[in-house]
Amino acid sequence: EDGALWGGRFAGGPSPELARLSKSTHFDWKLAHYDLAGSRAHARALNSAGYLTDAEYDGMVSALNELERRVTDGSFVAAEADEDVHSALERGLMELAGHELGGKLRAGRSRNDQIATFIRMYIRDTAKSLSAQIRALVDAIAGQAEQNFDVIMPGRTHLQHAQPVLLAHHLLAHAWPLVRDLDRIRDLLRRLDESPYGSGALAGSTLGLNATQVAEDLGFSASSPNSIDGTAARDLVAEYAYVLAQIAVDISRLSEEVIIWNTKEFDFVTLDDSYSTGSSIMPQKKNPDIPELARGKTGRLLGNLTGLLATFKALPLAYNRDLQEDKEPLFDSVEQLEVLLPAFTGMIVTMRFNGERMRELAPQGFSLATDIAEWLVKRHVPFRDAHEISGGCVKLAEQKGVDLDGLTDEDFAGVSLHLTPEVREVLTIDGSVATRDGRGGTAPNRVREQLAELRERLAAL
Ligand code: ARG
Repeated sequence: EDGALWGGRFAGGPSPELARLSKSTHFDWKLAHYDLAGSRAHARALNSAGYLTDAEYDGMVSALNELERRVTDGSFVAAEADEDVHSALERGLMELAGHELGGKLRAGRSRNDQIATFIRMYIRDTAKSLSAQIRALVDAIAGQAEQNFDVIMPGRTHLQHAQPVLLAHHLLAHAWPLVRDLDRIRDLLRRLDESPYGSGALAGSTLGLNATQVAEDLGFSASSPNSIDGTAARDLVAEYAYVLAQIAVDISRLSEEVIIWNTKEFDFVTLDDSYSTGSSIMPQKKNPDIPELARGKTGRLLGNLTGLLATFKALPLAYNRDLQEDKEPLFDSVEQLEVLLPAFTGMIVTMRFNGERMRELAPQGFSLATDIAEWLVKRHVPFRDAHEISGGCVKLAEQKGVDLDGLTDEDFAGVSLHLTPEVREVLTIDGSVATRDGRGGTAPNRVREQLAELRERLAAL
């Protein structure tokens, strides 16, 4: 018995070249426990339908449990001749249960419906553990927002000074996309909640097995309504790869800012020593490797997503062996985030913000010009004129080499008679921030409200 799952119509075993090409045990071993759970559920279905006596069923389950112990402690591993995890475990079962009993388990199932089910179970489990890690990151960002609540920074568009904002407001703008990612995962898990087990190779089986019972045993609330779709579809694999790539992109955008903030020129943040690296040649260096790795890995996750979509795009129904190529990119995206998230969260938690430096830069670059314009609008000056007038102030300040609050009362009056000395009320960053108090604005009361809303959303997810 060489363990291959076919043979009847073949003159001999596969060539060594084919065996090498075909082999997947070095990556699909990760699915061994799902395979064993599937086998137990399948054995129960065979028993309920009368294909295994109660005694045979008990014997099958003890053999599968023993096999699972051996897989767990590493005493059962893939052999050179095993093609994939499914064939390896069937070989193990035959060794433990004997040919007579072990040979009964494959009735009514195919590796096609097995693998389609196990990849979903893998997605379900890893999505749950990644969700917990993303929550921890959102908590870390929200914690920093709270601890640095009084810090005002230059808000930017086009990377140019635009308007002053609370640092907390800016940080929470990085938290919300991650909250949406958590929601995306939840949504994906709802769609994923259907087991293809029972689809067989593509057309179902003649044996009258209870696919719903198998689905429930494996933690799904239903079984696939279409056996062809059940075995051939991988859209959920692509969707998960997309959500993982989106998470990476969201982290990468924050990473880019941390890298910039950490430069001498910005000097907005200090990274903790334990979350920075040194240089092998330049003794003075302290580098932001975590956000750089995050940015770099994001490229890799985008590649995984693109590769998966390319693999799927022209596949005729139903199963094709191309589908074996779905696993490595997906596993890779999951594993990259699993190592990245704890390091990234640790960096955020221990990062120190230089609030003084941020406050100092916040009013620079005429970032209060919009405040002057809106102050005029409140005095019933049409916005088109207010914009002109405020622009005149900027021009004058630039000529004089001062910031907007460096203009004298006479300067203001010279630009427009609407500009009475009271305009100074809005020429402070605190005044500017405090008055942007519509829903979603950067006023401290609104940002407090936002922080509470974020935490509520998180708790409801
Ligand atoms: N190892 C295959 C995969 O990962 C599952 C086996 C299906 N193979 C087959 N020849 N029908 O997709």
